[in-house]
Amino acid sequence: MIVVTGATGNVGQELVRLLLEAGEQVTAVSRRPGPLPDGVRHVEADLADPKSLDTALDGAGALFLLVAGDDPEGILELAAAGGVRRVVLLSSQGAGTRPEVYGHPAAFEDAVRRSGLDWTVLRSGGLNSNAFAWAGTIRAQRTAAAPFGDVGLPTVDPADVAAVAAAVLREDGHTGRTYELTGPAPVTPRERAEAIGEALGAPVRFAEQTRAEARAQMLAFMPEPVVEGTLAILGEPLPAEQVPSPDVERVLGRAPRTFAEWAARTAPAFR
Ligand SMILES: NC(=O)c1ccc[n+]([C@@H]2O[C@H](COP(=O)([O-])OP(=O)(O)OC[C@H]3O[C@@H](n4cnc5c(N)ncnc54)[C@H](OP(=O)(O)O)[C@@H]3O)[C@@H](O)[C@H]2O)c1
Repeated sequence: MIVVTGATGNVGQELVRLLLEAGEQVTAVSRRPGPLPDGVRHVEADLADPKSLDTALDGAGALFLLVAGDDPEGILELAAAGGVRRVVLLSSQGAGTRPEVYGHPAAFEDAVRRSGLDWTVLRSGGLNSNAFAWAGTIRAQRTAAAPFGDVGLPTVDPADVAAVAAAVLREDGHTGRTYELTGPAPVTPRERAEAIGEALGAPVRFAEQTRAEARAQMLAFMPEPVVEGTLAILGEPLPAEQVPSPDVERVLGRAPRTFAEWAARTAPAFR
């Protein structure tokens, strides 16, 4: 049985679907109920309270772990006690490129590597689904606002992150590996807005925010160091953050999907 934490999120929903399709038994974990396929076992638990995962982990063979809470060792000890042999961590590219800012995922990576379990770390770049933040203004005014409109990053389709996670959870040969997951090419915020417009069949106006405007907006839902780190990646990315990684293709044997493909698939959310 495979335990999927974050099972109701952009990555987790697709991962649960792929594992079920492959015939795996799945336990889906999140703090609240959410959209899941009929009949899947769901356990409400909080990663910030490892003991709450007890029921979910009992009898599990593998764990897909998100970065949440501050006791990764507690989660991993409980996982090992429950029977887990393989752990796949969804971390962030920033844990490698800017560990001073992304200390939280970096600490989870350290714990996973020291756990004694068969581990694989997935370092995701920015997810295409971050563009859902535009859904309200695109629906209401056909407008998308973001800073650094002409700085491109190879953001990744959450469905590709899920596909890599499913492969790594089910196949041998990935133990002790750290994979960087990106899309196939850098895409700027302006180009992302254009791609959503094309998917909708009606243009979306791009409104460039100043750094200060974006900062104020992000501070409403992110801690300050993460806001600064995110603005640095969006505005002054390092070469390692702009170059597409070959790892999605290495694992899946096909190229990562484009932002335009993601926009075409998710267009109803912007309508
Ligand atoms: N967005 C990016 O650009 C980006 C880049 C790199 C890495 N990542 C990582 O990728 C992860 C997944 O992204 P996503 O877009 O799929 O996330 P998402 O759509 O926001 O979903 C998060 C999922 O995790 C669950 N969750 C959150 N906190 C939890 C906790 N303390 N205990 C148990 N479950 C919890 C949520 O359900 P409940 O709220 O009901 O618990 C939900 O199922 C993120 O959490 C982040 O660590 C994201």
